[in-house]
Amino acid sequence: MTFRLVALAVLCASLAAAQFEPNWKGLDASRSGFELLTNASVGKIFAQEEAELVVSGLGYPEGPVWHEPSKSLLFVDPGLNSILQYTPSTNTTVALISNAAEGANGMAVDPLDPNIVHICLQKGRRLVKAHLNTSFTADNKYGDDLVEEATEYNGTRLNSPNDAAVFSGQGEGARKLNSTVLYEIFFTDPPYGWLNGLESEPTLDKFSELGYHGVYRLCVTEEGEENHLELLTPALKRPNGIAISHDGRTLYVIDSRAEGDGPGTRLYQFPIADNGTVSAPQSLDDVTDADLVISDADYAKYVAVNYDTEKDPGVFGHVIDGMVAAPSGMIFAGGPGGLYVIDPAAREVVGLMRLGGSSHAVNVGLGMEGEGRGYLFATTPNHIWRIKLDDGMMTPKGGDTTEEEAMLRQ
Ligand SMILES: *[C@@H]1O[C@H](CO)[C@@H](O)[C@H](O)[C@H]1NC(C)=O
Ligand SMILES: *[C@@H]1O[C@H](CO)[C@@H](O)[C@H](O)[C@H]1NC(C)=O
Ligand SMILES: *[C@@H]1O[C@H](CO)[C@@H](O)[C@H](O)[C@H]1NC(C)=O
Ligand SMILES: *[C@@H]1O[C@H](CO)[C@@H](O)[C@H](O)[C@H]1NC(C)=O
Ligand SMILES: *[C@@H]1O[C@H](CO)[C@@H](O)[C@H](O)[C@H]1NC(C)=O
Ligand SMILES: *[C@@H]1O[C@H](CO)[C@@H](O)[C@H](O)[C@H]1NC(C)=O
Repeated sequence: MTFRLVALAVLCASLAAAQFEPNWKGLDASRSGFELLTNASVGKIFAQEEAELVVSGLGYPEGPVWHEPSKSLLFVDPGLNSILQYTPSTNTTVALISNAAEGANGMAVDPLDPNIVHICLQKGRRLVKAHLNTSFTADNKYGDDLVEEATEYNGTRLNSPNDAAVFSGQGEGARKLNSTVLYEIFFTDPPYGWLNGLESEPTLDKFSELGYHGVYRLCVTEEGEENHLELLTPALKRPNGIAISHDGRTLYVIDSRAEGDGPGTRLYQFPIADNGTVSAPQSLDDVTDADLVISDADYAKYVAVNYDTEKDPGVFGHVIDGMVAAPSGMIFAGGPGGLYVIDPAAREVVGLMRLGGSSHAVNVGLGMEGEGRGYLFATTPNHIWRIKLDDGMMTPKGGDTTEEEAMLRQ
């Protein structure tokens, strides 16, 4: 989920003293509608024609997650170092955390206790868990009972945890976890916590004490057993948004700077075997086509659908950022032009939901239960949007895996 060339974009925008105006190549930039970009039969995707604007007046909202006990959406505004809560029933937004020293980014609701939320503190350089009732004080600061979950790997400090996804092994046909593992937290560790409105993207490499930007899995075990942190790959340049398939058999990771100094977004897919082993390339030289849902070239193509890149080279600053995988297998991600609908099996962006006149979407959250079930929440600069998915998107596809499919995954 997340990051950003925000600092850079804001700086450029203010220097140019002109508002960023995307070129829509004949498309109406102000509409909030869905464009199917392919003729492939992908079934119905959305249950609504247009996305609904639900929150305005924000900075650069990120990390949206549905919280069923309070029937609200939790999200962050990294520029303000805040965590906010939007309640649809009253259409109001309040701050739970504000001006916090440790700056949050991606979040994930605990699969076993929905009042616990795992938070990537990108400026605090750690992954923590907070109890919503007790871990935020009356003056909107983090309380004493935050539990540190990951702060270093192999004795060296993490860079700045950015986005997290959880998997608990529940659901029919899902990968089973080891008996001592309660659930897994996958997270990315790029250097974006150092952006701080001052650093520019290409200078960020110098900060890492580890010397790489990893993708990790934390296996959370029963009380009394030690949690286990595992580096899945150190190969990606800017591991950013992360999602896990509903069956727990594929991990998806965005690299928002795959090549050179500018963004060259890639979407990776890493198969996870029944015994839990994640097959991820350990160096960029080992990357094969099979690892990529979206390659650098695909990304350039999708950007070109949305913008005139010759007139607006700056649009490459809008990477594919945060994402979720729906039970059907379809991926929803924030990217240049709006909300991307990605079919990982076909390895293509099948459609794009325009979100008003937004130049790009940043991050996406999906409600899985109760009143939030089937709602996608997408963030764009300043705004949050809500769109109801078609029921088919919330239905796990296929059921049992055939032997042939299982082999193809190896
Ligand atoms: C879809 O099919 C129509 C008619 O055959 C064709 O004109 C169009 O280019 C196709 N679009 C895509 C994205 O393949
Ligand atoms: C909720 O508030 C937003 C502004 O924050 C407004 O744009 C929207 O129309 C409101 N929705 C409803 C249903 O009142
Ligand atoms: C947390 O607060 C909610 C209401 O805000 C309450 O229903 C729930 O019982 C509380 N849980 C704990 C563990 O205190
Ligand atoms: C772990 O740390 C040791 C000693 O500091 C180092 O030699 C080794 O390469 C490190 N391993 C990884 C995977 O970072
Ligand atoms: C886990 O499964 C994979 C694929 O079946 C296999 O290659 C690997 O050796 C297994 N690892 C362990 C530790 O059993
Ligand atoms: C599961 O247990 C096996 C055997 O003890 C071990 O090799 C493997 O690393 C464990 N996997 C996870 C994800 O903990």
